[in-house]
Amino acid sequence: MLKLGFLVVLAFMGYWIDHNICVEGFGVNWGTMATHMLEPKIVVQMLKDNSINKVKLFDADKSTMNALAGTDIEVMVAIPNDQLLTMTDYDQAKDWVRRNVTRYNFKNGVNIKYVAVGNEPFLTAYNNSFVNLTFPALRNIQNALNEAGVGDSIKATVPLNADVYFSPESNPVPSAGRFRTDIAELMTQIVEFMSKNQAPFTVNIYPFLSLYANEHFPMDFAFFDGTPNPVLDNGVEYTNVFDANFDTLYSALKALGYGNMAILVGEVGWPTDGDKNANLNNAYRFYKGLFTKLASNRGTPLRPGYIEVYLFGMIDEDAKSIAPGNFERHWGIFRYDGQPKFPMDISGQGQDKHLVAAKNVQYLPNRWCMLNPNAKDLSKLANNIDYACTFSDCTSLGYGSSCNNLDAIGNASYAFNMYYQVQNQLDLSCDFEGLAMVTNKNLSQGTCNFIIQTGKYSFSHKVLPGIVVLLSGITFLLL
Ligand SMILES: *[C@@H]1O[C@H](CO)[C@@H](O)[C@H](O)[C@H]1NC(C)=O
Ligand SMILES: *[C@@H]1O[C@H](CO)[C@@H](O)[C@H](O)[C@H]1NC(C)=O
Ligand SMILES: *[C@@H]1O[C@H](CO)[C@@H](O)[C@H](O)[C@H]1NC(C)=O
Ligand SMILES: *[C@@H]1O[C@H](CO)[C@@H](O)[C@H](O)[C@H]1NC(C)=O
Ligand SMILES: *[C@@H]1O[C@H](CO)[C@@H](O)[C@H](O)[C@H]1NC(C)=O
Repeated sequence: MLKLGFLVVLAFMGYWIDHNICVEGFGVNWGTMATHMLEPKIVVQMLKDNSINKVKLFDADKSTMNALAGTDIEVMVAIPNDQLLTMTDYDQAKDWVRRNVTRYNFKNGVNIKYVAVGNEPFLTAYNNSFVNLTFPALRNIQNALNEAGVGDSIKATVPLNADVYFSPESNPVPSAGRFRTDIAELMTQIVEFMSKNQAPFTVNIYPFLSLYANEHFPMDFAFFDGTPNPVLDNGVEYTNVFDANFDTLYSALKALGYGNMAILVGEVGWPTDGDKNANLNNAYRFYKGLFTKLASNRGTPLRPGYIEVYLFGMIDEDAKSIAPGNFERHWGIFRYDGQPKFPMDISGQGQDKHLVAAKNVQYLPNRWCMLNPNAKDLSKLANNIDYACTFSDCTSLGYGSSCNNLDAIGNASYAFNMYYQVQNQLDLSCDFEGLAMVTNKNLSQGTCNFIIQTGKYSFSHKVLPGIVVLLSGITFLLL
């Protein structure tokens, strides 16, 4: 009854539908930079079980797309930065659209809504490598979508990070927001083009990074539960950096004459390890505030209403680059194995519920690798720990992280075990010049979890040397 009534109301409210159907909707980023990825169909089931109806990808991988086929989940596929150059050729762009978009455009295909052209291509860290490629690539992709007849429903956009706009130091308020001077003209062209095609502006907003980058950043301002020192801007009070950041972008768009452009938040989230501010409590606090805010539909002071957001990220990725910081591998709202990390009420009602965990996950046997207590010659220990950590993820050992209070022996065992698990518990991988041994005893202590990796050698071949992949695959099959 209720449902029917709802549908009838919707049917009579043309424009309103588009906006409000999305009210329940938020998305997640599904990254795959992991040594052991969960099978795509398990991940898709997690999305369904948690009523997550939008997903943002970093490519258009076939196995991912096949798993999404036949669901209603809205998908943003992506062209990585290293393919932008290719896309400056229109024929190549057309070919890409054919192979990665229109190919899935059939009944029970994939519900593609957006194509992300590049990922944060204007980051200053990229030294302008992509500044001359991004707009031509964007233009070609949208034109190819239009030519293929899907441009009305599938939009090309460029996920940008928040350093493409700023407020001047002389007037550091959101209403003074402008695009970065060095790319101002380029941003004008991009915005003009996207607006003409009714594509949204996509921005990644990271309150955590504001805090990480500046030790004087007021902690409260990174969260959503108020601050005694709000930023005042023409009578508007800003109590959190998310709103302030979003409205700085809004002001930059408005200054170009595009104040009506749709803005979607391509990434927002909080990591749970790898830094003193990256922990479960802070992540819990951040998401609780975020979901309460999203559920209220109050938007930001300058742009009230629904905001489309994609959380970053869905599952921890133990093979991500840690150039930006150790926290990079801990952005997941789920652990590496699809277990929820902390309570999170995505309905915004503030109920402390856990998300539904991944189902049918297989684990390797309960075996850990540890420092052999009888090892005599410890002179090679440091080198071996180094080796283990180079080829696995030791970021939880760092300052302020979940395993930072281990002693030297614990550190060594932690490193050895991470390597052993990455190598699918291959016997040879728990040797370390005779310093290590396998144990059935769970070595976890306190906040520090000595993990058992997921099984069925579904790991990424990119990360491991070929021979080891082969060997460990065989070993596993023999188990
Ligand atoms: C696009 O599709 C082709 C053919 O399936 C595939 O090789 C390529 O990796 C896809 N592109 C991306 C960015 O995933
Ligand atoms: C950017 O330039 C700096 C300094 O010249 C260099 O260290 C860095 O590797 C460059 N980064 C990229 C992505 O090219
Ligand atoms: C981009 O193109 C402009 C104009 O052609 C040129 O001056 C500039 O050097 C190029 N930048 C890069 C990083 O290639
Ligand atoms: C354990 O390793 C971490 C990270 O390398 C280091 O900061 C810490 O000092 C080590 N602890 C001991 C007791 O060696
Ligand atoms: C090992 O112990 C920790 C802490 O008690 C626990 O959370 C974890 O589930 C255990 N691991 C396994 C594989 O049983």
